[in-house]
Amino acid sequence: MKSDALLITNIGCLVHTEENVRLKYTGTEMSSIQTITDSFVFIKNGLIEAFGKSDDIALSKIRKENSFITCLDAGRGHVFPSWCDSHTHLVFSGSRENEFVDRLKGLTYEEIALRGGGINASAKRLRKATSEELYKDATKRLNEILLLGTGAVEIKSGYGLDVESELKILRVIKKLKETSSLTIKSTFLGAHAVPEEYKGNKEGYLNLIIEEMLPAIQEEKLANYCDIFCEQNYFTKADAIRLFEAALKAGMTPKVHAEQLSHSGGIEAGVAMGAISVDHLEFANERDIQLLKKSSTMPVILPGAQFFLSLQKPPVRMMIDAGLPVAIASDFNPGSSPTGNMNQMVALGCILYGMLPEESILAATTNSAYAMNLSKDLGSIAVGKKANLFVTKEISSYSFLPYSFGSNLVDKVILNGQLMSPESF
Ligand code: NIG
Ligand code: FE
Repeated sequence: MKSDALLITNIGCLVHTEENVRLKYTGTEMSSIQTITDSFVFIKNGLIEAFGKSDDIALSKIRKENSFITCLDAGRGHVFPSWCDSHTHLVFSGSRENEFVDRLKGLTYEEIALRGGGINASAKRLRKATSEELYKDATKRLNEILLLGTGAVEIKSGYGLDVESELKILRVIKKLKETSSLTIKSTFLGAHAVPEEYKGNKEGYLNLIIEEMLPAIQEEKLANYCDIFCEQNYFTKADAIRLFEAALKAGMTPKVHAEQLSHSGGIEAGVAMGAISVDHLEFANERDIQLLKKSSTMPVILPGAQFFLSLQKPPVRMMIDAGLPVAIASDFNPGSSPTGNMNQMVALGCILYGMLPEESILAATTNSAYAMNLSKDLGSIAVGKKANLFVTKEISSYSFLPYSFGSNLVDKVILNGQLMSPESF
């Protein structure tokens, strides 16, 4: 008989446990994390039912009260809540290593985009791809990040840039939501770039987004969020406000690509329109920090893109010291962050921005879950939360994870209370 109860024992350390669930961690709250050494987790019907010290009498009680239990020996590994990745573009077609080489030869991301590379180059390829091809490639990427410990992910459209192709991506994301073990949220990013056929006519393209794309997406309930690339040569703060007014009416909460390559007012637009998150933030300034302080918008940093494009660093320490929360996501996309490895992002948070391991881990779990409106159910080890966890190889402390950047320490993955096996993919 298949058991719907899983008891994980012989855990070296449970990381980020909570007695009372917090939806986000801000400022100094981010510098401490709760752990339990020599512990167990008990999962029932896909949810965390109990956890604690292994010598707890609770353990024998659990065994007595539940006749069908699958047991899993954690082999003294650490058990973490799955990573939550609140910003990806993982439905795309083909790669762009040619642009990577162009940048190594001295061109900038902006120069490459102006020559017809960048987002428009990806759009050209995606328009030709079938839904089946996109679904197959995206599933491979999802399975790859699943094995690296990610349990919830947001996926954006934005490489279609016409009605039919944007819908094609969003329908692929819908199918991924139905078939994947990961928890998935979808974001409409039609305003990622002005497509070739609208060159010089940004207003015309924005009209197409607002008048045709948004209603079609609303009709099929294809997106939780609506995003815009607020940046020089892309879209302005005023464009963002106009788009979000329409998106909110169509039931989509705003998100913004803000202050990545220059200061463009994306944070101000996002905060004014009640965005759930503002992402990138390399050029965020003191005033933006004050605006964010008065809002419930989550600042999300994307260390993969900042590192890969050698951009200036976002003011992470200033934000945390000002009492803000900070979330970390991967930005998995073919142009500026061709990896969705959240272990690597957590390590980069520490290495590039001086975040403490605690800050980086909280940023990639609870706070990143908040940026997808999922922190009630995911992002920590708490009774009643969804049992999305990963077990590491035996390690000496949780700080070993960001310290050993580039290594994959994830040994076992549990999603919805089920042990995932790569052979079944
Ligand atoms: O988040 N900044 C805009 N969008 C992506 C890059 C997309 C691309 O280059 O394909 C980002 O970095
Ligand atoms: Fe992005």
